[in-house]
Amino acid sequence: MTLPGAPSLARVGGALELDGHGLDGLGQRFGTPLYVYSRPAMLRALAAYQRALRGRPHLICYAMKANANLAVLQTFAQAGCGFDIVSGGELERVLAAGGQPDRVVFSGVGKTRAEMRQALRAGVRCFNVESLAELDSLDAVARALGCRAPVSLRINPDVDAGTHPYISTGLKGNKFGIAHDQALAAYRHAASLPGLQVVGIDCHIGSQIVQVAPYLDALDRLLDLVEAVEAEGIALQHVDVGGGLGIAYGTEQPPDAADLVAALLARLDARGHGARELLFEPGRSLVGNAGVLVTEVLVLKPGEQKNFCIVDAAMNDLLRPAMYEAWMAIEPCVQRAGAAVRWDVVGPVCESGDWLGRDRALVVAPGDRLAVLSAGAYGMAMASNYNSRPRAAEVMVDAGGVHLVREREQAERLFDGEHLLPGAA
Ligand code: LLP
Repeated sequence: MTLPGAPSLARVGGALELDGHGLDGLGQRFGTPLYVYSRPAMLRALAAYQRALRGRPHLICYAMKANANLAVLQTFAQAGCGFDIVSGGELERVLAAGGQPDRVVFSGVGKTRAEMRQALRAGVRCFNVESLAELDSLDAVARALGCRAPVSLRINPDVDAGTHPYISTGLKGNKFGIAHDQALAAYRHAASLPGLQVVGIDCHIGSQIVQVAPYLDALDRLLDLVEAVEAEGIALQHVDVGGGLGIAYGTEQPPDAADLVAALLARLDARGHGARELLFEPGRSLVGNAGVLVTEVLVLKPGEQKNFCIVDAAMNDLLRPAMYEAWMAIEPCVQRAGAAVRWDVVGPVCESGDWLGRDRALVVAPGDRLAVLSAGAYGMAMASNYNSRPRAAEVMVDAGGVHLVREREQAERLFDGEHLLPGAA
């Protein structure tokens, strides 16, 4: 089997390595649970989009919700990437990592006025606006600051991305975007507001999408609107097709970024929109296969119905299996000889939903380290302190070395900012 994350991830003489660094040794050196990211793998994933878009007006805005570590953001900023943000906190992070505000698009269905002010002062490239009410608030905030807010309207194209219901966003029943049949009126309204400057149109139909067809359907729906809006004299500089491209966790066969981009460019050309600037908001496809979560086996608990392999990483470290029943590959960091047994790999958290993998054939012993693969996206980003568990450390590797890019959280820091009641000691 090819490891997801290859060629950065490889098995060499029984030991799993990321860019030549043994994961078992990294787990020993930095402790577990430990996220390990490959910088070259991230840059390769970005380069695939960049190559496919060469010579075309475009901006790739990394959807930083997938993995917001400063070193990850710095890596992409230095490679010329823009960013898709969804909160004031993400804006602060991206600026701290050296991202350029004029390459930032601000998405999200519920922005506060304070966040709007913060983003206007920073000078973001545009706001992806999701409702008529948001247009009015943004107009008021911008006028109070004496500026005009650049806006793109997020359209809900009502296409089925064929993905998990929790991460499907482009259907009528979702909370996201402005309905296609209300979009023209919304553009007229936006164009009439003095605090706004209409600059584009966008959509985002879901995540972990493994087909090209839903993207083409969504693009067609957007282009229909572009034509209708421009016919009324409202110019649109860019078309933003969102993110969502899937990765292989196991047997999935998502299209390459290059194939997706080529198909979209061909459709733009065919409809006479070849000169229009194209924006992408990829998250998972830039970082997912570039990261692993290393965890240590604490206890083996064979049982009558099930065998449990209890590890030191839990749902608070990696929520995707518990939340979406997501399947993620689990591999021993060092292979050992023996007969494989089927284990449910579970964490120490007090919930039956706390599992990382079910029914996995593994040869393991207590003290062994395992790696959960394809954990670079929505892993650490969704980690919590449930059960008062400090969050994991993060390390980034490249050919030159190993960099600790986030220290392991200290338990005593977890109650910083909390207060005992007065009186009782
Ligand atoms: N743009 C917008 C407006 C989004 O809401 C998202 C993701 C993206 C871009 C990036 O999508 P991507 O390329 O990463 O698929 N926690 C879930 C995924 C949630 C995605 C939310 N929105 C998971 O672990 O599968």
